[in-house]
Amino acid sequence: MKKNLKYIAGAIVVAVFVPFVAFAGDDNVPPITNDLVKEECSACHFAFQPAFLPALSWEVMMQNLDDHFGEDASLAPGPMAEIEAYLVANAKRRGLVDENNPPLRITELRWFTHEHSEREARQMKERKNVTTMLDCAACHTGADRGIYDDD
Ligand code: HEC
Ligand code: HEC
Repeated sequence: MKKNLKYIAGAIVVAVFVPFVAFAGDDNVPPITNDLVKEECSACHFAFQPAFLPALSWEVMMQNLDDHFGEDASLAPGPMAEIEAYLVANAKRRGLVDENNPPLRITELRWFTHEHSEREARQMKERKNVTTMLDCAACHTGADRGIYDDD
């Protein structure tokens, strides 16, 4: 019995740390290769690469585009299905996901707030003259190519 408990405790530790190191040693992501995604998902902000969120996050997000962070980002069924399929196929594979509450914001993931602490982010934004952390490409000049370890 004791052994089992120990095993469970070990599993929990792993679950907590996996998201944290998700990008350590692998700071770049594959660029977006689908033209529709590039076009439709860059209309209001930088087009984030699908590898930043798990498949379930993209599914939930794509099913609720009419209320996308308070905005209506609806698409016709055809383009919507194509974009969702692409995002899901290229989603992040590592780490565990809370099935009832998948993350919808990259900027709230632990590795993100770790790499961009509040104080540092404020200073970085001032220096780069950026108003939002969603403007990835303002600071990471290779962001559209999936390169984030360049500065
Ligand atoms: C009509 C404008 C609009 C379009 C089109 C749009 N978005 Fe957004 N998106 C927003 C707004 C507004 C936010 C929240 C911005 C903020 O918090 O500053 C957001 C936030 C996000 C976030 C969370 C960012 C974070 O980490 O905080 C993701 C992921 C995202 N959008 C993905 C997409 C995808 C995928 C598409 C294409 C299907 C898309 N968006 C198209 C307006 C849009
Ligand atoms: C105001 C500037 C700024 C913005 C905006 C910004 N970043 Fe960063 N980011 C940095 C800095 C500075 C670092 C830490 C230095 C480094 O290692 O590149 C960093 C680190 C990272 C890292 C880790 C890179 C590494 O080498 O360890 C990733 C991945 C990353 N950012 C992704 C993003 C994404 C995705 C967005 C948009 C949602 C974003 N960043 C927005 C400035 C910014």
